[in-house]
Amino acid sequence: MPALVLLGAQWGDEGKGKATDLLGGSVDYVVRYQGGNNAGHTVVVGDQKYALHLLPSGILSPGCTPVIGNGVVVDPSVLLSELSGLNARGVDTSKLLISGNAHIITPYNVTVDKVTERFLGKRKIGTTGRGIGPTYADKINRVGIRVQDLYDHSILTQKVEAALDVKNQMLTKLYNRRAIAVDQVVEELLEYADKLRPYVADTVLVLNQALEENKVVLFEGGQGTLLDIDHGTYPFVTSSNPTAGGACTGAGVGPTKISRVIGILKAYTTRVGSGPFPTELFDADGDALRRIGGERGVTTGRDRRCGWFDAVIARYATRVNGLTDFFLTKLDVLTGWDEIPVCVAYEIDGRRVEELPYSQTDFHHAKPVYEYLPGWNEDITKAKSFSDLPKNAQGYVKALEEMSGAPISAIGVGPGRDETIEINSFL
Ligand code: GDP
Ligand code: IMO
Ligand code: MG
Repeated sequence: MPALVLLGAQWGDEGKGKATDLLGGSVDYVVRYQGGNNAGHTVVVGDQKYALHLLPSGILSPGCTPVIGNGVVVDPSVLLSELSGLNARGVDTSKLLISGNAHIITPYNVTVDKVTERFLGKRKIGTTGRGIGPTYADKINRVGIRVQDLYDHSILTQKVEAALDVKNQMLTKLYNRRAIAVDQVVEELLEYADKLRPYVADTVLVLNQALEENKVVLFEGGQGTLLDIDHGTYPFVTSSNPTAGGACTGAGVGPTKISRVIGILKAYTTRVGSGPFPTELFDADGDALRRIGGERGVTTGRDRRCGWFDAVIARYATRVNGLTDFFLTKLDVLTGWDEIPVCVAYEIDGRRVEELPYSQTDFHHAKPVYEYLPGWNEDITKAKSFSDLPKNAQGYVKALEEMSGAPISAIGVGPGRDETIEINSFL
């Protein structure tokens, strides 16, 4: 059973980086399959804290080969500075592999992301401004630049010309911006080409050969299920498929190879950017979750919107991803409440609804129906097994498991590698 997918079950920032790093020591490859440097994954190793944006969290495990799959969008300048930042801290990054088919986030994609958001005004998505949406749009429009294009000067120039043809019209005539010069973009991209060359590989071949040899491959999602372009809260989503199927298309591995799909699930809910969020809190409890949970964006530094756990969303994540397990994170953050509300259903225009409505209008009208679970005051950060948890914390976990539809196989009780309760082994 060599291939596992690890993904966000909510709106991102569930603790995927920590969970991936935890498994990194026991797996041969860790693969990012979608998204780009919109992700911010925090890994805490001893007294060292790492913020990873583009690199798979397996990069911190010496035995593990990190892979950037074809489904990822790569900003070369961000990638190179992330690599040099890690090298300066003594992390060996030489094993990294980058798919030649991954798309490049060009400087004009970043510009377009920023101007379109500004023009959306109050309807803005609240993107990370990293050029993610426009780069995926170019990919789908078939005017994208791929990593392999960096190695053919003439092709690169022609492709940048084609991409800028329409964009420059748009930038100058619609958005009142200066046109972007083709030569300048080509020159900048060529500067990155040589530096990236040692890492570029046929990652589809490498990964499939590894699976044939029974090597263990872990696919690390960016973002989360509700930010998925197809299955999330469209249009307030990212422009890729963080859900489990994205691992197959974004890495070139068939679905028959995937044996386990682990949903990372925060013990409460957070969201960054615009869009509906039924359990969002605007009171002292929301502030407390933000403060205790350190809920501030790793990429943009924005405060995260915070709310209670939403079991309707967790059930939905189980369904659309075919989850086999949950990794429940940040249970320690909930210590200190007398009782903890958990959303078990929605009330939508006077009706009780148990499952996530497909209609955007309905979801915007959804009000949480809460059940109240008894809280605990004991410090749980030193708990090593389920039985070390206070009875009410055990009850909270069991209730969430029952409502969410898949077994909770691990529980995070702090940000560090060892602050984890393992219930069922993932490998
Ligand atoms: P990701 O994007 O899914 O990797 O998550 P982020 O790194 O953006 O946000 C998760 C935050 O929670 C990070 O600061 C982690 O160090 C931290 N974290 C992860 N698991 C736990 C946990 O079980 N308890 C606590 N207190 N913090 C955790
Ligand atoms: P990780 O991997 C939380 C959100 C943005 C915005 C929307 C679209 O750390 O969980 P984009 O720049 O992707 O076009 O923005 O998606 N978003 C995230 N929110 N965690 C993330 O990544 C996110 N990546 C994008 O805030 O609402
Ligand atoms: Mg994050």
